[in-house]
Amino acid sequence: MGGFVTLIREYPVVHRFLISKYPPIASFLSGILKENKNAVDQQEIEEIISITPIKGKVVADVGAGSGRIAFLVAPFAQTVFAVEPIASFRSFMKEKTRNKGVDNLYVMDGTLDSIPLPDCLLDVLITSNAIGWNLLEELKEIERVVKPGGHVIHLLHSDNTQDNPFHDTLVSSLWNYTCLRAEEGGKLKLRYYKSFS
Ligand SMILES: C[S@@+](CC[C@H](N)C(=O)[O-])C[C@H]1O[C@@H](n2cnc3c(N)ncnc32)[C@H](O)[C@@H]1O
Repeated sequence: MGGFVTLIREYPVVHRFLISKYPPIASFLSGILKENKNAVDQQEIEEIISITPIKGKVVADVGAGSGRIAFLVAPFAQTVFAVEPIASFRSFMKEKTRNKGVDNLYVMDGTLDSIPLPDCLLDVLITSNAIGWNLLEELKEIERVVKPGGHVIHLLHSDNTQDNPFHDTLVSSLWNYTCLRAEEGGKLKLRYYKSFS
């Protein structure tokens, strides 16, 4: 079933084709997609927590997009800042916080090389498929906003099984990130993390 769910999730054209051929299948497909999303979300949150606890912490998701990670961590964290440069994504997240009654998630305009937060505020900073637009400046800016004892996690997903182009920089002695790799259905999942002393 896992392979089939991946197929219809990754290839909407297949999803649409199946519904066009047999419309009653639509509710079954939406049910298994929802179940699969919940399982993927659960795994993502467990992977974050295995690196650092987030309960009661001040967390930022930078390059938040539609806020996938921000909304996942909000039920556990004290405060979440979802920083995102694209206005339509910010509007989407703001509306979602209102609709879902999430009162500890703050949506902000900003980029990874210009994070609109004061020095040493964060316990945990997370990026998901968002670093690398201006890598060295981003890494410096991240060091500014994370407090001593805090953690940074970069989640990266790739369609091929090569290391990402930033790997050497991240694991270098200058930036000192640890890399965890996992392959899932022909895709590569990379988690880079470090704690600040
Ligand atoms: C591939 S999406 C990932 C979104 C989300 N983090 C996720 O995992 O679903 C990359 C996001 O980074 C944002 N972005 C673009 N330039 C950025 C920058 N300089 N700093 C931070 N985020 C940026 C984009 O607007 C987009 O929302």
